[in-house]
Amino acid sequence: MKKVFALLLCTLMCFCLSACSNGGNPGEVSNSGAAANSNLNSSTKPDSSDVVNNSTIDESETGNSNNSSTSENSDNTDITANSTISESVPEVPSDSEKSNILVAYFSLADEQYEVGVIEKGNTEIIAEIIAEKTGADLFKITATTEYPTTYNGLLDISRKEENDPPQLAETVTNMADYDTVFIGYPIWWGNLPTIVKVFLENHDFSGKTVIPFCTHAGSGLSGTQKSVENLCSGAEVKNGLAVRGSTAQNDRSASEKAVADWLAELGING
Ligand SMILES: Cc1cc2nc3c(=O)[nH]c(=O)nc-3n(C[C@H](O)[C@H](O)[C@H](O)COP(=O)(O)O)c2cc1C
Repeated sequence: MKKVFALLLCTLMCFCLSACSNGGNPGEVSNSGAAANSNLNSSTKPDSSDVVNNSTIDESETGNSNNSSTSENSDNTDITANSTISESVPEVPSDSEKSNILVAYFSLADEQYEVGVIEKGNTEIIAEIIAEKTGADLFKITATTEYPTTYNGLLDISRKEENDPPQLAETVTNMADYDTVFIGYPIWWGNLPTIVKVFLENHDFSGKTVIPFCTHAGSGLSGTQKSVENLCSGAEVKNGLAVRGSTAQNDRSASEKAVADWLAELGING
């Protein structure tokens, strides 16, 4: 009987022990564990999804000391900001990438003689070919006032400008960087357009090589080489190029060849 009682007591104790060790349901155990973990994270360990905490980690990884932590922190912030900005800011060319040749030109699109309504001016097309072949920088000469978009309007304004010169919208502020300057223009009334004269008068070309080029409707350079020489005192003015406007606009290969042959004559690598 004693043995039977002892066996019963033993079985009862085993049952109690088993029930205690499984106390509560499984969900409660896992929740309390998660809560403990989240407490740990918020007090001792930065959450990796937090931007501020990430910059803290970066600081420790870069070995910044406590003494410099404030300034280093702001530096790190700057680096992050700069890396974002640098994607949208154009890169400053290195010295070896800077050109010492400039192509400055005046040219109008819209309605032009012989070629109708055009999207890109005849002279601009030649200017771009020169820049492509020489690696030159381009500068478009513009006036503070808009030009008419019709050929008749241009005939009218060009005459008035002779007595009431237009003003430059922009000047070449780094002209000193260039040794060689190509000057491009359409022939107007057998001469330089007044805005081109204004451009030449407002820049210092002394000590530079100046090379004119034009587009036209039959006149060729028409004595403008001499006008450029007169307006660029102290410069060496080399032989210019004249391309018919309709050729510039409609015959790319002839225009490219004319420019290449001319550059070769000038001894400029094209
Ligand atoms: C006001 C004006 C005057 C012009 N005078 C002449 C001229 O005297 N001789 C000539 O051959 N072409 C003359 N042209 C034609 C232009 O020189 C020619 O169309 C040129 O290719 C236009 O170049 P752009 O499109 O670069 O402005 C004149 C054009 C205009 C608008």
